[in-house]
Amino acid sequence: HEEEERGEEYLFKIVLIGDSAVGKSNLLSRFARNEFDNNSKATIGVEFQTQVVEIDGKEVKAQIWDTAGQERFRAVTSAYYRGAVGALIVYDISRRSSFDSIKRWLDELSTHCDTTMARMLVGNKCDLENIRDVSVEEGKSLAEEEGLFFMETSALDSTNVQTAFEIVIREIY
Ligand code: GTP
Ligand code: MG
Repeated sequence: HEEEERGEEYLFKIVLIGDSAVGKSNLLSRFARNEFDNNSKATIGVEFQTQVVEIDGKEVKAQIWDTAGQERFRAVTSAYYRGAVGALIVYDISRRSSFDSIKRWLDELSTHCDTTMARMLVGNKCDLENIRDVSVEEGKSLAEEEGLFFMETSALDSTNVQTAFEIVIREIY
């Protein structure tokens, strides 16, 4: 098998979910290319990026899938989740409605994926402290209730982006 010959033994599919404009695409571009786009357009359909991460001296390939938060732009849901072993469920700390949607995203996730998958609740845009609408404690306690990892991130200033993805990848591995 070609992949095994190259020593790439691990390929993990990770999905990004959450309301539109919470910053899913920018978290991915920050993680995979160290890029941020202030004027990024809403995602249409599905995009993915493959990123090699070194865990305990082994190369792990993470294939991270990103789709539209907006229903009308979404691709076939079952195909999006198929084979996923990790998920980042993202809200925007400056927009309460995106936090209120998390339960719905978790429901969708659990209808398509095994609950043993590695799941992290991500409160993105933590650089927007001055207009914060969801406290760190609320994020933490929801994560505890639902058995998720939790982290606040900023795709804008890079806070915890690498760490969030790596914790999920490490948990899968
Ligand atoms: P959909 O593709 O519609 O589901 O949206 P998305 O979740 O992919 O959001 P996207 O990454 O396109 O970001 C939406 C907007 O938020 C853009 O204007 C980004 O520049 C901005 N944004 C993303 N991450 C951050 C962040 O960490 N901080 C701040 N201040 N803005 C951010
Ligand atoms: Mg997007």
